[in-house]
Amino acid sequence: MEVVIVPDAAAGGELIAEAMAALLRRKPEALLGVATGSTPLPVYRALSAKVRAGEVEVSGARICQLDEYVGLPAGHPESYRSVVLREVVEPLGLAESAFMGPDGAAEDVPAACAAYDRALTEAGGVDLQLLGIGTDGHIGFNEPCSSLASRTRIKTLTEQTRKDNARFFDSIDQVPHHVITQGIGTILEARHVVLLATGESKADAVALAVEGPLSALVPASALQLHPHATIVADEAAASRLKLGDYFRATYAAKPAWQGI
Ligand code: F6R
Repeated sequence: MEVVIVPDAAAGGELIAEAMAALLRRKPEALLGVATGSTPLPVYRALSAKVRAGEVEVSGARICQLDEYVGLPAGHPESYRSVVLREVVEPLGLAESAFMGPDGAAEDVPAACAAYDRALTEAGGVDLQLLGIGTDGHIGFNEPCSSLASRTRIKTLTEQTRKDNARFFDSIDQVPHHVITQGIGTILEARHVVLLATGESKADAVALAVEGPLSALVPASALQLHPHATIVADEAAASRLKLGDYFRATYAAKPAWQGI
């Protein structure tokens, strides 16, 4: 894995937005996989700023969702569909038709999961998948002990994740117990996987994912299997990496034009 240590969240956002912009310059119809939660917001802001500044044209871009709560009513402001439309699709000036996601309100959830997994492949596959990381090492909502070969399916959130996400709701009781998430095997099919981690609360998860053994207990460690995985961590999230200095030196020696 390539590990890039940046001073802060804004720098991480800028670096990843530039990678997305470079991708869209060479492949205008690229399919960008987006995550929700707080971490990726600086990426979306930086990419929108590039669009407004005329540095990149995104009108052909397609956006796909990583995961979704099950059971929130359609249009709920915290459904991930609403969040992605609000934070990504609208600021980039894209039409809703450029966006695909799983149906969290489906009557037949397993069928909706399988249909979404198929739709990603039929769309040509994800070109760049942006991920955050849970304090328990989850990616998407693949909680610890998820199969490393899993496909899009329904999962039950851990109490830790429900507590972590309670800040988006009026109370923890409103946080759904179930989600649809791209599986780890699904995520690993993206051509480039970029995980952004910011803040001290992610430091243990980052160290285990990057330097720990490959383990279903730390789902993000599955990215060790990906031929092009980039971990972007701010100083706080990188603070427990044993090889931090090595990662800094390696990235500093990389030609600037190469990006991530
Ligand atoms: C969200 C997602 C989750 C989050 C993770 C971190 O779509 O897939 O894996 O990325 O829970 O959330 P934040 O960024 O809010 O700390």
